[in-house]
Amino acid sequence: MFLRVTFLLMLFGVHTLFSQHTLIPQPASFEAGNAKVVFLLDSLTVLEYPMDKPEIYAHVTDFQIFLKAKGLDIYKRDSQPGAPKIVVQLEESLISRCGKEGYILKVTRDKILIQAVDAQGIFYGIQTLKQLLPPDFGKRLPHDGSTVFIPTCTITDYPRFQWRGLMLDVSRHFFPPDDVKAFIDQMATYKFNRLHWHLTDDEGWRIEIKSRPKLTEVGAWRVERTGRFGAQRAYPHPGEPATYGGFYTQEEIKDIIQYAADRHITIVPEIDMPGHSMAALAAYPELSTQKKPKFVNPGAKFAEWYGNGKFKMLIENTLNPADEAVYRFIDDVFTEVASLFPGTYIHMGGDECYKGYWEESADVQAFMKETNLADSHELQAYFVGRVHEIIRSKGKKMIGWDEILEGELPTDVAVMSWRGMKGGIEAASMGHAVVMSPTTFAYLDYTQGDHSEENPIYNDLYLEKVYQFDPMPEGIRADLILGGQGNLWTEAIPTLDFAFYMTYPRAFALAECLWSPKYAKDWNDFVRRTEDHFLRFDVGGVNICKAVYDPQIELFKEGDKLMCKLSNPIPDLEIYYSIDNTYPVKYSQRYVGPFEIPEGYLSLRTQCYREGKAIGRALNIPRITLSKRLR
Ligand code: ACM
Repeated sequence: MFLRVTFLLMLFGVHTLFSQHTLIPQPASFEAGNAKVVFLLDSLTVLEYPMDKPEIYAHVTDFQIFLKAKGLDIYKRDSQPGAPKIVVQLEESLISRCGKEGYILKVTRDKILIQAVDAQGIFYGIQTLKQLLPPDFGKRLPHDGSTVFIPTCTITDYPRFQWRGLMLDVSRHFFPPDDVKAFIDQMATYKFNRLHWHLTDDEGWRIEIKSRPKLTEVGAWRVERTGRFGAQRAYPHPGEPATYGGFYTQEEIKDIIQYAADRHITIVPEIDMPGHSMAALAAYPELSTQKKPKFVNPGAKFAEWYGNGKFKMLIENTLNPADEAVYRFIDDVFTEVASLFPGTYIHMGGDECYKGYWEESADVQAFMKETNLADSHELQAYFVGRVHEIIRSKGKKMIGWDEILEGELPTDVAVMSWRGMKGGIEAASMGHAVVMSPTTFAYLDYTQGDHSEENPIYNDLYLEKVYQFDPMPEGIRADLILGGQGNLWTEAIPTLDFAFYMTYPRAFALAECLWSPKYAKDWNDFVRRTEDHFLRFDVGGVNICKAVYDPQIELFKEGDKLMCKLSNPIPDLEIYYSIDNTYPVKYSQRYVGPFEIPEGYLSLRTQCYREGKAIGRALNIPRITLSKRLR
C-alpha cells in the first residue's frame, strides 16, 4: 500500500496527461476524474466477474491473456479489503441508459467497474479500457513488472447507429482466413459490428458451394498479373494456367463467422448478381445469354465507362434472367449461404448490371414479351424480385445496392445506398431500411492524399471529408436508417498491410460518425485523438496512412499564370514551400496565401511543420506534372 501511495505522490507531474482522453470513437459521455488520482494497474489487481456467464468469462479471459502477455498477471482470487480490482458486472437496469450495446466504465482509485446489460456492452467497455492504457503499452515486454496508470473517469457510452459496418472485397484480391481475422480484430477495437463480406465478383468467386463445385474449382482462380489494374493488364493467353486466387472452405467460413461473433461482429455475405458475375460464368458459362466460354478477369479492362454511371461491358458478366436454370443456380447458392451465415441479411449485390447482352438476346427478348416486361429495367426488377423470393424462402432478409430500387420492392428489403445518399433517402421514403455507404464519404479505396505519393484511383476521399459523414438525412424516418458503412474495394489492394493503410485512419472517422452522438463530434479533437492512435498502430506494427499531415495542393489559373493554393486540415501545422529548387523548404517560404508557380524546369516542394519540426511527407512535384493536373 505504501508503495502505491508513493507512486501517487510521484504522479503530480503527469496530471495533464489525463486531462483529455484519446478514445476513438468518442464516447457519449466522458467525465474526467481528479487528474491527480489514477488507478494503478499491476499484478496485485484482482478480477471480479460473474462465473455463470460463458460469454462474459470469454471476454474477461481474453483481456487477462492480453494483459498477461505484457507482464500483468491479474486473475480472480480472494484479496485483502481495499485491494485494487477490476469488476465486470451485468446490470439489466442499464437498458434505459445505455441500450443493449452500451456500457458504463468507471475508473476510481481502487476500482475499475464495467457494467452493461449484456456481453456486447461488456466487450465494448473492455475495448474502451484497453484504449485507456498508454499508447506505447503494446511495446511492453512480458517480464516488465512496472505499474500502469489508468486515468480516473466515468464513461457512459452507447452507439448512435445499430449498423456500423466495413465492407471487405475479397474477390479482387483473396485475403486468407488469418487476414480476415486480423481485419476483424481492428474493427472490433473501434466498435464496428458489421463485416460486409464481398465474396464474389468478376475477379474471383471465394466461397465454397458444395452443390456447385466449379464455382471454386474454376471461379476462384485467375491468371497472375501484376501492376496497375485496368487497360495495362493482358487477358489470359491461350493455355495459360490460372494460378492466382483462392477461396474459403465452408469450414473456414464457419470459423471466421464464429471469430467475428466472438467480437460481436455479424458477417453479411454478398453474392453479387446479376452483374459482376464473370467468375461464376467462367465456371458455368451456360448461365449467361451467349453461353460463351469465359475466364476469371485478372483485373484487365473489360468495360468502357462513359461517365454519369453509363458503361458498356466488353465481355458478358451478367446472369441470364430469362433462364430458369439461373434461378435454380441461385437457389442452390443461397441454400448453402443461408445455412452458413446466422445473420439476418444476405446481400445480393444488384449493382452496375450491364443490360446490353440481354437486349441482344432473342431468348431474353421473347421472355420479356411473354412476361409483359417493357424494358430491361423491368427485367432487372423481375430478377431482383425472384432473388428476393429465394432469399426469403431461406428465412433471410435481402439487402442490395441501391440499383435494386429500379423496380418496386417489398418493404422488408433493405437498401445500401452507394451512389450518394439519394438512393437511401428515396428508399427510406418508400419504407425500406437503409444503410448509407456513399462514395462521397465512405469509399475507402479512393485516394487519401496527394497523387505524387498515393495511388490515384477513380476519385479522392480525404480524412476530413469522411469525418463530415452523417448517415441520417434530414426529414427521414430515423428508425429506417440502420447506420452506415465504409467500403474497401480491393482492385488496387493486394495485401492485408495495404488494406489497413487504406482503411485507417478513415475508419476512425467512420467509427465516430456511426457510434458517437452527433453533438460529440469535433474535428480538431478527433485529429488529436487520431494522432494518439497513429502511435498505437506504429507500436503494433500495423500500417496506417498519415497523409493528413501532408500539404494539400490546389491549382488554378489566373490569366496565364499557374497558381497554387496550399492547405492542411490540422490547425496547428504550418506549411512551407519552395519553387526555386531549394530545400529543405523550412529555409524557404512559409505559406500565407496563393502564389504563382513560374515557368521553368522547377518543382514545387512543400512540407508541413509543427513547432519547427517537419511532420508528414515532403512533397516534390515537377511543374510539368502540376500543370497537367489542371486539365
Ligand atoms: C459499387 O461500388 N459498385 C457498389
